[in-house]
Amino acid sequence: MAYYYSSLKFLLFTSTLLFLFISFSPTNAQKIDTKPKALVLQVIKDAKTRQYFTRFLQRTPFSIVDMVFDLGGKLMWIDCEKDYKSTTYRPARCGSAQCKLAGSDGCSQCFNPPKPGCNNNTCSSILDNSVIGLATSGEVGADILALQSTNGANPVDVVRVPRFIFSCAPHSLLEGLVNGSNGIIGLGRSPIALPSQFSSIFKFSHKFAVCLTSSTDEYNGRGAVFFGDSPYIFSPKVDASKSLTYTPLFINPVSTASAYSQGEASTEYFIGVKSIKIDEKAVALLNSGLLSINETDGYGGTKLSTVNPYTVMESSIYKAVTEAFLKAAIARKLTRVPAVAPFGLCFSSKNVGSTRVGPAVPTIDLVLQSESVYWRIFGANSMVQVNSNVLCLGIVDGGVSRPQLRTSIVIGGHQLEDNLLEFDLSRSRLGFSSSLLFRQTNCANFNHTWLHNG
Ligand SMILES: *[C@@H]1O[C@H](CO)[C@@H](O)[C@H](O)[C@H]1NC(C)=O
Ligand SMILES: *[C@@H]1O[C@H](CO)[C@@H](O)[C@H](O)[C@H]1NC(C)=O
Ligand SMILES: *[C@@H]1O[C@H](CO)[C@@H](O)[C@H](O)[C@H]1NC(C)=O
Ligand SMILES: *[C@@H]1O[C@H](CO)[C@@H](O)[C@H](O)[C@H]1NC(C)=O
Repeated sequence: MAYYYSSLKFLLFTSTLLFLFISFSPTNAQKIDTKPKALVLQVIKDAKTRQYFTRFLQRTPFSIVDMVFDLGGKLMWIDCEKDYKSTTYRPARCGSAQCKLAGSDGCSQCFNPPKPGCNNNTCSSILDNSVIGLATSGEVGADILALQSTNGANPVDVVRVPRFIFSCAPHSLLEGLVNGSNGIIGLGRSPIALPSQFSSIFKFSHKFAVCLTSSTDEYNGRGAVFFGDSPYIFSPKVDASKSLTYTPLFINPVSTASAYSQGEASTEYFIGVKSIKIDEKAVALLNSGLLSINETDGYGGTKLSTVNPYTVMESSIYKAVTEAFLKAAIARKLTRVPAVAPFGLCFSSKNVGSTRVGPAVPTIDLVLQSESVYWRIFGANSMVQVNSNVLCLGIVDGGVSRPQLRTSIVIGGHQLEDNLLEFDLSRSRLGFSSSLLFRQTNCANFNHTWLHNG
């Protein structure tokens, strides 16, 4: 967090926030301000790591935390070792309802002086740094957090969540995360992930929506995540909830986390890609079995991930897709140039036209439950401009399946940007908008002004 303080703009932003929150009487700290209909978090993209992170207030007194956003993560974990000071932190006692929600039946002791993360007779949970694939365990606890409510178009009010359950991590677990961040926030399928806690506290329907920004402008380029029932309105008055296509969400019965207990299901979101088309022509896959989830060992299938900057494909799928893409690109008179890592297929950007939805390149369709339901990926989401002359297909080769690559297709951040994705867990379905650029808007066009400028 510290490095943001070097920016004068951020200092101003911070002091406005502090002023705003100091005006709440601390004796009210245990009650929820309003009955919000929906909540919204801002999502910022870091240029260097390509991680998406969100920023809100936590602890007493309030402190700004930056949390890396993990769509399929099980829970929120925060570094409690360095500078965690709060009068409202409460460790979860063994056998408590909080421990049950965390799926934790153990009981730990700590032989250092007591502090958040080190208390006796508490339960702990497994914490996953999904960015680098490192896991450890940490004390389950709860503390207050604050964020903004929304009517789907504008921010409305500040909402406080007095006892949000999370886990305390050692400082070392921050390795690989964007500089200054405090931990990871999980939105996965778990009773202690953000969506479940918010829907049970505020009686929301079990639903949330993600709109990742492609902009790395920390102040004017923020995307949004919505919790609860609301439209998703981006200026100029485009309601992205009005034109979603739906596809079933699947549960992988075997965890895909770095560490997990036996029998634990994956908390990530899987969809059923049945085939892939390039410029509307089917790609011949050698082993289409890789597209389904093996119920025994959890290998295969297609998931969505915000911790992978680019889509990852199993080697045989990658090979077939890049070959088909190259063929279609040549038919469109594109010129192949030497590849720039981590990509394997690049083109000269000279003779590539531009469209509202990015460079004019072959379209990629992920065909879902039927031939007529597909997620079409256009140039803005398929191509990465690596330098002023070169455009690369933003897909990387993940290696072969067993025992290497668990999930055959991981749809990464670049492919999700400027698309509205609604995860409706009560109906087990994903609603997707395809590129909002078609509708002359993007994920950075949500009005976060209230938290921005005070
Ligand atoms: C992270 O931020 C700190 C504090 O501003 C700074 O000293 C350090 O150099 C930064 N590290 C990297 C890798 O940018
Ligand atoms: C936990 O209990 C042990 C044994 O009674 C004690 O030595 C230790 O200081 C306690 N730790 C904390 C964090 O209170
Ligand atoms: C953004 O929201 C604020 C607070 O609700 C409102 O005052 C402002 O007019 C909105 N701005 C736009 C451009 O709609
Ligand atoms: C599923 O995985 C198990 C264990 O690795 C394997 O024995 C089985 O053949 C796989 N099933 C299919 C349909 O690939």
